[in-house]
Amino acid sequence: MIIKNEIDHRIKNSLNLISSILGLQILNLKNGSHESPQEILKKSKSRIDALIMIYDTLFLSKDKGEIDFSVYVETLSEKVSKTFHKKILLKIYAIKIKFSLEIMIELGIILNELFINSIKHGTRTVEIHLTKTSRHCILIYLEKGNKAADLHKIKESKKLGIKLIELMIKQLRAVMKIKRNGDLGYTIKFKCQDTRYITAPTNILKR
Ligand SMILES: Nc1ncnc2c1ncn2[C@@H]1O[C@H](COP(=O)(O)OP(=O)(O)OP(=O)(O)O)[C@@H](O)[C@H]1O
Ligand SMILES: [Mg+2]
Repeated sequence: MIIKNEIDHRIKNSLNLISSILGLQILNLKNGSHESPQEILKKSKSRIDALIMIYDTLFLSKDKGEIDFSVYVETLSEKVSKTFHKKILLKIYAIKIKFSLEIMIELGIILNELFINSIKHGTRTVEIHLTKTSRHCILIYLEKGNKAADLHKIKESKKLGIKLIELMIKQLRAVMKIKRNGDLGYTIKFKCQDTRYITAPTNILKR
């Protein structure tokens, strides 16, 4: 069972994360941004919402500190759509799996940035695949039909979005590969055989 201390610890970490995100946002503004203040604040709001929703899902769930991956991802995409007033066409093909709070925060921040990018720069048609081998989980985020994405711009981005993703990848001790061949694809492989995740990986469920 997840103990209160663990949640307190995580809340403090999340507040620190929010503070860092806002700090990086300020740096970005200093370096010159052509976005409207409204758009910048919307993105900051979305980043904070992604964290709040993890705690919402956690407190609503009957499980002890476990978060259902597919349920969270679906709720997250709906929230991002609502914030930016643009629909995301999402299909999830995922094993039934529950993650610890720690992993879900890292995955949630990554997916939130990818959803925002799909809305701001891409096709808004997304497939998410989650599979598992004996030791690793493999998460694939596919943006369908994105033929225009400039991989160099993404990989070399000095902006907050990709920087945040890279930070979370490091925390997860994951490996990320980005490809484009008709679709824009991010493949994220991370270890998930120990207590950092809780699972009942049965069949692939399509949502
Ligand atoms: N889905 C996508 N389709 C096409 N281009 C993309 C996509 N995602 C990212 N890019 C390109 O990569 C760049 C870097 O992305 P990144 O998320 O770091 O910055 P951003 O979205 O411009 O701003 P922010 O820091 O608010 O996220 C984008 O400016 C855009 O040119
Ligand atoms: Mg972005």
